[in-house]
Amino acid sequence: MLFRHTRPSSVAGVLARITTFCIVGLESRPVAVEVDVRAGLPAFVIVGLGDLAVREARERVRGALLNSGFEFPQRRIVVNLAPAHLRKNGSGFDLPIACAVLAASGQVPAASVAHRAIYGELSLTGEVRGCRGTLAVAEAARRAGLDGLVVARERALEASLAGDLEIVGVDTLAELGRILDGEQAVPPLPDPRTAERPSRPAPDLADVRGQWTAIRAVQVAAAGGHNLLLRGAPGTGKTMLARRMPGILPPLERDEAIEVTRIHSVAGAELAGGLADERPFRAPHHTISPSGLVGGGAVPAPGEATLAHHGVLFLDELSEFNRHALDALRQPLEDGHVTIIRGQRAARFPTRFMLVAATNPCPCGHAADPKRCRCTESDHARHRRRLSGPLLDRIDVVVDVERPTADALAAPPSADTATVRAAVLAARARQAERLAAAGVMCNAHMDAALVRRLVRLEPGAREQLAHSYDEGAISARAHDRVLRVARTIADLAGRDLVSAGDVIEALNLRGEPVTPVAEAA
Ligand SMILES: Nc1ncnc2c1ncn2[C@@H]1O[C@H](COP(=O)(O)OP(=O)(O)OP(=O)(O)O)[C@@H](O)[C@H]1O
Ligand SMILES: [Mg+2]
Repeated sequence: MLFRHTRPSSVAGVLARITTFCIVGLESRPVAVEVDVRAGLPAFVIVGLGDLAVREARERVRGALLNSGFEFPQRRIVVNLAPAHLRKNGSGFDLPIACAVLAASGQVPAASVAHRAIYGELSLTGEVRGCRGTLAVAEAARRAGLDGLVVARERALEASLAGDLEIVGVDTLAELGRILDGEQAVPPLPDPRTAERPSRPAPDLADVRGQWTAIRAVQVAAAGGHNLLLRGAPGTGKTMLARRMPGILPPLERDEAIEVTRIHSVAGAELAGGLADERPFRAPHHTISPSGLVGGGAVPAPGEATLAHHGVLFLDELSEFNRHALDALRQPLEDGHVTIIRGQRAARFPTRFMLVAATNPCPCGHAADPKRCRCTESDHARHRRRLSGPLLDRIDVVVDVERPTADALAAPPSADTATVRAAVLAARARQAERLAAAGVMCNAHMDAALVRRLVRLEPGAREQLAHSYDEGAISARAHDRVLRVARTIADLAGRDLVSAGDVIEALNLRGEPVTPVAEAA
């Protein structure tokens, strides 16, 4: 099959041009791979601001071509990656470079690569490997008006999520050669049902014994999308409860699932089954750096806050986290996105996650039991300082997780995931109806104006709130947060008006004691 299609002139040189893409942040930018093959001393040069992986493509491309039964032209081969000013990183350039060499040396028809983008890594033996960011690349290829995209077979389903694009999923360069030559048809997409998925059975709330109050807090937080702090002694089940949160959240909507898939693919996750089907649950260790948490790096990469987008970010042992890392979370928590600027480049990463945090009430963890607590007053003060501040201001629900009694541990579970999830879904449906016009998903995301407009109170509820405010139990800032949580509690009960009881429960879910109006009077 050598040199059948165009015979390269020994003087003029033959140019082949293939479109591929380079990941920048979560976006993908078009890159033209231009290959010039001409007479001269044999050489293989890649120009165009490639990083180390791109420069190393030379070796992989040469090996893959030779080991796939193709000729590696003994001429002067120059590969140019355009635009020249864009820094190119990653190994996705291997396959388009190899195909451009094949087209420029007449080993595949130039027309077969003119309307398709190509994106993939090569092994020395000619296997095609998937690259991170395939979905973002497929979407960009569709936007650029290309007809098709060639990727590794393991990434074909992911690429197909972009829709309206012919996806050519191949295992080897030799197979791709036959397809481009027209000797072999484009293989059908793998069946998503048989595609491998790591099957992790989600943990069930029924594993947690006792803890009725804490489970209720978890339910309220999930129902309204509220940030949650679990506070309690070691071994009381805080981590257990947090890990059960994704299981009671509503399933991902399709556009959310696409966004989650795009993010995790760029971050390098294996997504054999195509679409992500679970809400993310991220639990970074407390030694994480600010850039690990919110994103950063010389080539801006998403952090844990973005990997938790549409899911849960769990900060276990909150008081152990680096102060700077927690401070860095403020903007993403407030705005739902974070912008990372590195030199000339800015990348914007979405960060709409639910924050779940857990902490001991004091350094030794036994503050609730004065006989066991070994901490001094200054230990307590230091611990409170570490936990106070702007981050805590953004947590609507705080619950004390108490040590379960022996009876509770022996008794049947207080709740199970299926029942709690059904209640959460019903409450979310009520919110969706009320909030759809405002473009907001759940009660936690209502701003002050929406709270005033959409949270309607029974007279008793108004009185209770005024009483707690006058008593100094809540600040002006906390006022709206109480109303948001009270609204969620009313949604769980299927009520249109917020009652005094809802307000009292919302006040209790702030982790501070409250006096009801009736008792105070
Ligand atoms: N309420 C509970 N019901 C059933 N098992 C529990 C309960 N609380 C704790 N356990 C058991 O104790 C183990 C430790 O719980 P977990 O790790 O959730 O505690 P924790 O509150 O996060 O503690 P730490 O503060 O040390 O992180 C669990 O794996 C579980 O086996
Ligand atoms: Mg724990």
